[in-house]
Amino acid sequence: MTLQDFLTEAEATERDGATALQTAGDADALEAARIAYLGDRQGRVKALQEALRGISKDDKPAAGKRFNEVRTRLDALHGERKSAISRAVVGQMEDGSLPARRLWQGAKHPVTLVIEEIVAIFRDLGFTVALGPDAESEWYNFGALNFPPNHPALDVHDTLYLEGEGLLRTHTSPVQIRTLQKYAPPIRVLIPGYAYRRDFFDASHAPVFMQMEGLSVDEGISFVDLKSTLNAFAARFFGAARTRFRPSFFPFTEPSAEMDVQCGVCGGSGCAVCKGTGWIEILGSGMVHPRVLEAAGIDSERYTGWAFGMGPARMAISRYKIPDIRILYDSDVRFLDQIAGPATGAAE
Ligand code: DAH
Repeated sequence: MTLQDFLTEAEATERDGATALQTAGDADALEAARIAYLGDRQGRVKALQEALRGISKDDKPAAGKRFNEVRTRLDALHGERKSAISRAVVGQMEDGSLPARRLWQGAKHPVTLVIEEIVAIFRDLGFTVALGPDAESEWYNFGALNFPPNHPALDVHDTLYLEGEGLLRTHTSPVQIRTLQKYAPPIRVLIPGYAYRRDFFDASHAPVFMQMEGLSVDEGISFVDLKSTLNAFAARFFGAARTRFRPSFFPFTEPSAEMDVQCGVCGGSGCAVCKGTGWIEILGSGMVHPRVLEAAGIDSERYTGWAFGMGPARMAISRYKIPDIRILYDSDVRFLDQIAGPATGAAE
């Protein structure tokens, strides 16, 4: 091949190649152009390189120089086009035609929902809400509630003691004393709040958990009031569920009873939720011990009362069929979404 023919061919390769590479509309077209011009096997640049071999020794430097120019230019054009195409793809992704992200609107925690429902039911029965401190003295948490000094609940294994003095309340019952000290009977209060115990965090225990205390003190209050009020509550909260009272023991009540409701999941025939018993324990209760009334400065000859304590987390678990209490403590908003119902509205 003469130098002149080679230069003509080089010119054509450069011109055609530049056009093909610069006008490739997308990644596939660009790749086809690359193979046609810069491909190792049948590309036209490769053919030009082979033609170089047939050039005489004298003309080789000039031909070689031209060949390098053509290859370098087409390589550069390929690189430029490639980044232009990928920029265009990214640009499309950022374009406003993508669906908007959904707005998270927030939802109430299932335990909060249960507490609000309980408070609403008891409000109709004449109860108001009272609160007390999470950090308590030993006297409010135990002594005033008639716990003997050597009671196992005082043990460091159960109670989280604060440095110096005081402790984190192990139940909401100390607020019974605080309420009785502050207000004269008749008293009807609900006391929601956190309780703390040195428990392991497992599927059914947590070291911090919500409790809901109830207290009713007046002249002439009897166990009939306790049973009928709690039955009225259960009928509203659980529907037409049956209840039963089992004798129990608490230092601050006498007599004491635990209340079960028939399992709403199996209807009483026995299932995993009720551990085969057909019943779910929902609260501890009893007639307020005269010593508790006296400790709070109430005349126990004149006044009587009843009280209860329940775990709203447990009630949320059976209401919403939540398999593991730890889910209640996770910050997984998808879970709240499921129970509270999907958040409405989308970002525009
Ligand atoms: N304080 C008890 C506990 O944490 C629950 C309880 C039982 C509260 C009976 C009461 C009651 O007021 O009468 O286990």
